[in-house]
Amino acid sequence: MAENEDGTFTLFFMITAEQISKNSIPAHVAIIMDGNGRWAKAKGLDRSEGHRFGAEAVKKVVRAAGKIGVKYLTLYAFSSENWNRPQAEVDAIMDLLVYMIQRETPELMENSVRLLAIGEIDRLTPDAQKSLQETIDTTSGNTGLTLVLALSYSSKREILSAVRKISSDVSIGKFSVDDIDESTIETALFTSGMPDPDLLIRTSGEQRISNFLLWQIAYSEFYFTKTYWPDFDEQSFFEAIYQYQNRERRFGLTGDQLTTNSNFTE
Ligand code: IPE
Ligand code: IPE
Ligand code: MG
Repeated sequence: MAENEDGTFTLFFMITAEQISKNSIPAHVAIIMDGNGRWAKAKGLDRSEGHRFGAEAVKKVVRAAGKIGVKYLTLYAFSSENWNRPQAEVDAIMDLLVYMIQRETPELMENSVRLLAIGEIDRLTPDAQKSLQETIDTTSGNTGLTLVLALSYSSKREILSAVRKISSDVSIGKFSVDDIDESTIETALFTSGMPDPDLLIRTSGEQRISNFLLWQIAYSEFYFTKTYWPDFDEQSFFEAIYQYQNRERRFGLTGDQLTTNSNFTE
């Protein structure tokens, strides 16, 4: 491994599941799956083909995450802003969502994957809502990986809805303003009960957050790769995990404090 000027690393070897340390597996990995359209364009294909191949990459990454014992995998599949794309593309994504959920439910069951969704789910097409809910119900008892799909998701709106919920609780006297703390807000978010992401991956070379998990990523490690999402596979995922494991998360402390006080290390 060689360190680049920007602090990233170039790996000269393949990372296998065995090379990943079992002691510091991120409990929660979140991914901004970006680049489907550019991947398709580069191949002279329609953007919807990019989404179709992107869905196959989802399969590979869900398997890889399960293999190394990641507990939560959150995938940004469709943002609130994505509704403003051409209708044909939106329709193709919704159809694909229904198709994939139905096709993949047996494999989710086989691997004990539990499905959850975050976002303004009531904005999805009735078909998409129905398949999603069916699979969420079917997989609810599974104890392996929790796969969280962010659909029609906007972090600002999530925070806004949390503020409304909390304000309404205060207005009916459930608790007072002084009782509001970080956990009150966390409980009111769509991600209530989930650990914050340890690692946030964004594919396609873009280095922005695009309205994703703004509250939850306060201390996440960021990993950006130029790979377009449809080309992202098990190897790409393991590489991201490997690089994550070679970072020092300090949470505001000094490096020395981390080595002398084992309470702060993972
Ligand atoms: C990510 O790929 C998938 C969605 C946002 C639905 P894009 O469709 O954004 O692909 P690019 O960024 O245009 O290449
Ligand atoms: C972010 O990608 C949303 C998803 C991956 C679902 P976009 O392609 O929509 O983000 P911008 O517009 O490039 O910021
Ligand atoms: Mg994009």
